[in-house]
Amino acid sequence: MVDRPLGRTGLQVSPIGFGAFKIGRNQNIKYPSQYDLPSDEEAAELLHGVLDLGINLIDTAPAYGISEQRIGQTLAGRHKEFTICTKVGETFDNGVSHYDFSSEAICNSVETSLRHLKREVLDIVLIHSNGEDLKIMYDTDAVITLQQLKLDGKIRAIGFSGKSVEGAEGALPWADVIMVTYNLEDQSHEDVITSAAKVEVGVLVKKGFGSGHLNPVDSIQFVLANPGVSSLIIGSLNLDHLKSNMQLASV
Ligand SMILES: NC(=O)c1ccc[n+]([C@@H]2O[C@H](COP(=O)([O-])OP(=O)(O)OC[C@H]3O[C@@H](n4cnc5c(N)ncnc54)[C@H](OP(=O)(O)O)[C@@H]3O)[C@@H](O)[C@H]2O)c1
Repeated sequence: MVDRPLGRTGLQVSPIGFGAFKIGRNQNIKYPSQYDLPSDEEAAELLHGVLDLGINLIDTAPAYGISEQRIGQTLAGRHKEFTICTKVGETFDNGVSHYDFSSEAICNSVETSLRHLKREVLDIVLIHSNGEDLKIMYDTDAVITLQQLKLDGKIRAIGFSGKSVEGAEGALPWADVIMVTYNLEDQSHEDVITSAAKVEVGVLVKKGFGSGHLNPVDSIQFVLANPGVSSLIIGSLNLDHLKSNMQLASV
């Protein structure tokens, strides 16, 4: 499996990344079936297994429950082996998402993520959209705050994880990285993936399996066949699934 460049960031990422949602949260989910949160030992075995498989990109968020803390606790000693991507703007408390895109909330969120992840710099920080993609970008201080945090050296690359094509397009002038939904059933972002590649903005794909509703074999081949995609972030609690995903990505 050959690493791919993440746009102009200088980072090289594995074509399969690990989505760390399920190690931290099991409420308000879109997966086909409910699951128990793994124990600390199970989460640690999974996270070490992820790196041992050659996956060098982990995607998390403050809204993923205890995901950031578990990554920090388990992988602090191996932090040079992987790129961490986290987010700002959404938190999840008592079963409900809260959104705050103010400068103060974003700065506090980045400080908390640095502490949880036990890092001095965050590799990638994306705005975690609530769906009001353009409003967040144009009517709040979210973008300018991330740009300042990047200048301050707290973040290497910044970007946007949105819900609309317009949001992804709107991010291209300022983002280093965008995260978009792209799968066999939803190809609405195909043109913006091509545009991103032209301007060297890295593309991370979420929900490549339609949150577990689509066939993994066909899904991996489809997503990775697009040269504009840097990495397909797959969520899983099952190392055997991750192993077979990696084998499929190498074909
Ligand atoms: N707004 C945002 O920024 C946003 C939104 C959604 C997702 N994301 C990111 O993208 C990641 C992935 O998205 P997602 O978790 O919604 O969906 P996904 O990656 O499309 O699907 C994940 C599901 O697929 C299953 N799976 C994985 N490999 C499999 C295999 N080989 N065979 C059978 N089933 C398999 C997993 O179950 P098992 O545990 O049984 O393997 C899991 O339930 C998330 O973890 C998160 O990091 C970001």
